[in-house]
Amino acid sequence: MYCKYYGLKERPFNVTSDPAFFFSSKKHKEAISHLLYGVSQRKGIIVLTGEIGTGKTTICRFFLNQVGKNVKTAFILNPTFSEVQLLESIIRDFGISTRDKTKLGMVLELNNFLLRESAAGNNLVLIIDEAQNLKPGLLEQIRLLSNLETEKDKLLQVILVGQPELNERLNLYDLRQLRQRIMVRYHIGPLDNDEINSYINWRLEIAGAQNSRQIEFSAEAVDMISHFSGGTPRLINMICDRALLAGFVSETIRIDFNIIKKCVEELDSYSVAQNT
Ligand SMILES: Nc1ncnc2c1ncn2[C@@H]1O[C@H](COP(=O)(O)OP(=O)(O)O)[C@@H](O)[C@H]1O
Ligand SMILES: [Mg+2]
Repeated sequence: MYCKYYGLKERPFNVTSDPAFFFSSKKHKEAISHLLYGVSQRKGIIVLTGEIGTGKTTICRFFLNQVGKNVKTAFILNPTFSEVQLLESIIRDFGISTRDKTKLGMVLELNNFLLRESAAGNNLVLIIDEAQNLKPGLLEQIRLLSNLETEKDKLLQVILVGQPELNERLNLYDLRQLRQRIMVRYHIGPLDNDEINSYINWRLEIAGAQNSRQIEFSAEAVDMISHFSGGTPRLINMICDRALLAGFVSETIRIDFNIIKKCVEELDSYSVAQNT
């Protein structure tokens, strides 16, 4: 509702994982390089972890837009299902049609698809987001899928993406075979302090701020945002979104320390209320 006032095309600090807003921070760049390396070198299993809101899903979506034509992908968002349902969604996302919906039938169909695509020079990638929710049985199923291979190559590259609990799960004794197959790992941390100002301006710019009235976050305001968010993009977005609303209400395009302080206090009391 404040977009018109600031002359913006859309809200700059939405908490969706829109890849159009992707900011190439040092760590996000490294994460993408790890994924690209693991996939292009056919490393089998790749693990990307990070706390909530650090940008994991955004990285996945950006990565999906980056890969070349010869990389075919399936992206599973919230895998809280049974083995059969998991297979079904993998098959659907790769665009494979199968009448046989039994576990064996689907694995065979998937295997045929992987062989066909691989022979045509394509690299197949399965990305599973929120993988910390995968039950050990499903992780074992995924290991079996990633075992499918020709004499030369792994047929399926698997990227497991999740919160740090994913590592705890992978450390289970029963999953040691899977653990041994993880060839690339990256843990994404928060933005560095000196990147936060650029992150904010980048998102404003993508939302159309260059043609608009000059929204300005003061240096003290940015310091306060860094302090409160610890560099986590999701928290930065929540504060900045509120700040723009507050600026609109008090009819100012300059976001200063006092505005941010008020927003942070509101968010704090909100999260306290949520937790009680
Ligand atoms: N590199 C980035 N560039 C732009 N926005 C980002 C970046 N990383 C995270 N965000 C933003 O932060 C919010 C949370 O990101 P998300 O990918 O959902 O985090 P996670 O999946 O780790 O919980 C989203 O609004 C997203 O757009
Ligand atoms: Mg996510």
